[in-house]
Amino acid sequence: MPTAQTMSIDPAETLDARFRAAIASAFPDLPAEAIETHIAANRQPKLGDFQCNAAMPLAKRLGKNPREVASAIVEHLDVSGVAEPIGPGAVAGPGFINIRLLGDALSESLTRMDTDALGVEAPEHPMTVVVDLCGVNLAKQMHVGHLRSTVIGDAVARLYERLGHKVIRQNHVGDWGLPIAMVVQKLIEVQQRGRDLSDLSLDELNTLYRAAQAECKAEKAALALIAKVGGHPKAEAELEMRIADANESMERAKRRLVKLQSGDTESVAAWQRVYDITMGACLATCARLHANVTEDASAGESSYRDELSDVIDDLVRRGIAEEDDGALVVRVDGLKEPCIVRKRDGGYLYATTDLAAIRRRAGTLGAERVVYCVDARQSLHFKQVFAAAHKAGYDRTPQGKTAELFHAAFGNVLGEDNKPLKTRSGENVKLSDLIDEAIERAAKTVAEKNPDLDETERAPIAEAVAIAALKYADLSTDRIKDYVFSFDRMLAFEGDTGPYLLYALVRTKSIFRKAADAGMDLAKVGDAPLLLEEPAERALALALLRYPGLLKAAGENHEPNRMCAYLYGLAGAFSSFFDQCPVLKADTEAHKMSRLRLCGLTARVLEDGLATIGIPTVERM
Ligand code: ARG
Repeated sequence: MPTAQTMSIDPAETLDARFRAAIASAFPDLPAEAIETHIAANRQPKLGDFQCNAAMPLAKRLGKNPREVASAIVEHLDVSGVAEPIGPGAVAGPGFINIRLLGDALSESLTRMDTDALGVEAPEHPMTVVVDLCGVNLAKQMHVGHLRSTVIGDAVARLYERLGHKVIRQNHVGDWGLPIAMVVQKLIEVQQRGRDLSDLSLDELNTLYRAAQAECKAEKAALALIAKVGGHPKAEAELEMRIADANESMERAKRRLVKLQSGDTESVAAWQRVYDITMGACLATCARLHANVTEDASAGESSYRDELSDVIDDLVRRGIAEEDDGALVVRVDGLKEPCIVRKRDGGYLYATTDLAAIRRRAGTLGAERVVYCVDARQSLHFKQVFAAAHKAGYDRTPQGKTAELFHAAFGNVLGEDNKPLKTRSGENVKLSDLIDEAIERAAKTVAEKNPDLDETERAPIAEAVAIAALKYADLSTDRIKDYVFSFDRMLAFEGDTGPYLLYALVRTKSIFRKAADAGMDLAKVGDAPLLLEEPAERALALALLRYPGLLKAAGENHEPNRMCAYLYGLAGAFSSFFDQCPVLKADTEAHKMSRLRLCGLTARVLEDGLATIGIPTVERM
């Protein structure tokens, strides 16, 4: 008889192993890699907890009758110690095999899971994982797009941390290059005109940034058009003047970049001012979002400035980069567009910095995995950069391993009109405004639902509810998909929302307060034998047992939405259990204790699961 040690916490995994063995011995000619067990939760819980759907595809492959294949599997099957004996009667329909777990096996698995780690085992080989997240740009406000790179990135990082890996967060701030030099130049100009910069806000800085951009933009196309269709000579002259001005501004910006590069004190001081203002606001917003992105994580483009020429020299010396029409490019197999690493004018690009970043992350920080939580629109960029880095060997760790590079891409946040979310005047929506509004709205809802709470208690609850709503709405959709932003939907207390999950958690916990008030001795709940008899109890137990496996799958595939779906399902299973199985009014003391233990375990899994994706929780609401 198999011992507890040979059984995984998740019964589906144990069943998978047993069915694999049965299929192998029933069909010895079948190659091992062709065996698929297709274990799934039973669609009709009355018939069993799980079903094995392997017979149908297997019959097709072997040209046999699926019911006969199912019977052959059953004949070779040993599920002793896990499930009730399965006889020919367990084969249903076209060849489903129904499986009911043994009550003992179920409670034994759940007991084993009920540890501090909640059944999550430390990895045999903990990895170093770099998570590239947030990625704001200097002199710009964080907008709604950064919600995704910050919230998804932080969730991916937390999932890896929870799985026991070493995580290094990297905020690849856009803080270098010509656009930044433009604003630095502008800042120095206004300062020279007597503007005191000590109280400069990010909004003002952003206005200066836009002005600088506009001043440097030459309207050459307009001039060409006028020349073609024939315009007023005065208009033409004016346009020519404006182009000359723009060229001059651009030249000033370029000179400023050179000065900045060479460490000129005035330039560096102005740059630092831009940096401090932007990052101060950025990190404050991250903190409000309960996203673990701090100054320690900052590794902006500027931090690679002294490595870029070395990267280029190295690529040229080793023949990895080649000249192409004056530019320097790395050609990679399978991609039509080469990765440009140096422009014709000698300037470096976004891709150059990212190559240096991969070299540092794998080569110096020892990352075995690098996960980029960045907008899907950059997918070609990452394909090029990953391939170029691989060609150059920059993805090698000091141990000689090849780091895995993932672009965990995400879609757009849309407005109700299905277009990228914008303000009424067509501007990007500021992330901090969005947070303010979510909190304001949550405060109203919390006050309506819970008029007894006084103001001091209500404020932190409203804040947590708002942040949970905002983050959960973002995390619960399939990353790559666009989603429509709706305050009403995300803040609802019912349905697949953040507030619903917080409420579910509060409910699981409040039962303990009631039990304590009723004078129950709660010290022994943790050791109470688990009696899993009612269907709703079994269903809840099965949902709980999926946690460790689900955590691993959600984390390693960078899919926080799977954790959301799981937690929502768990909350539903708990709700059915709570409706159907009296806890404090259960028939026997043993049942009371067992059910309380189930409540406690559910609360801990909900809390842990929400923490792995960075959703704040509350004690009451
Ligand atoms: N600053 C970039 C942007 O706004 C995002 C940075 C993403 N990370 C990276 N390693 N390229 O588009």
